[in-house]
Amino acid sequence: MPKERTFAMLKPGVLQRRLVGEVLGRLENQGFCIIAIKMLQVSRELGERHYGEHKGKAFYEPLMTYMLSGPSIAMVLERENAIKALRHMAGATNPEEAAPGSIRGDYGVITRRNILHASDSPESAAREIGIFFSPEELYPWVDGNEQWF
Ligand code: CMP
Repeated sequence: MPKERTFAMLKPGVLQRRLVGEVLGRLENQGFCIIAIKMLQVSRELGERHYGEHKGKAFYEPLMTYMLSGPSIAMVLERENAIKALRHMAGATNPEEAAPGSIRGDYGVITRRNILHASDSPESAAREIGIFFSPEELYPWVDGNEQWF
């Protein structure tokens, strides 16, 4: 199966709760390769571009307030079937419905602060990667280079 890229974002509470290592460790253990990663303060403009499809919904402004409340970690991840696999690991949007063992099921508390965002389709992944990263910020993964071991 060919490798696929997806976009993931650890929301502000992950840093505040010192959960970055836990979440990244889970992703690496499941074979995700980090192609790009950056810590950034999401601006209103960036938040609106990313979550524009939700504008007008009741949770939109509270979601914006949360996303602007501190730094996030944006990533491009690669592996086979990356989009579906990451959505599966993330669990249901509402942490109360997310299965134990999923990231949201284990660490999420309320829907707005559901730990991480994960692209839901190839189109979303391409769009979201383009919002947060330029092509030269993506590093092709090289497997099996012995000099690193
Ligand atoms: P995410 O996967 O980042 O995509 C949209 C986000 O909006 C979602 O995770 C939640 O953080 C938030 N969201 C979606 N539905 C609701 C809801 N019903 N109440 C509060 N926040 C929501």
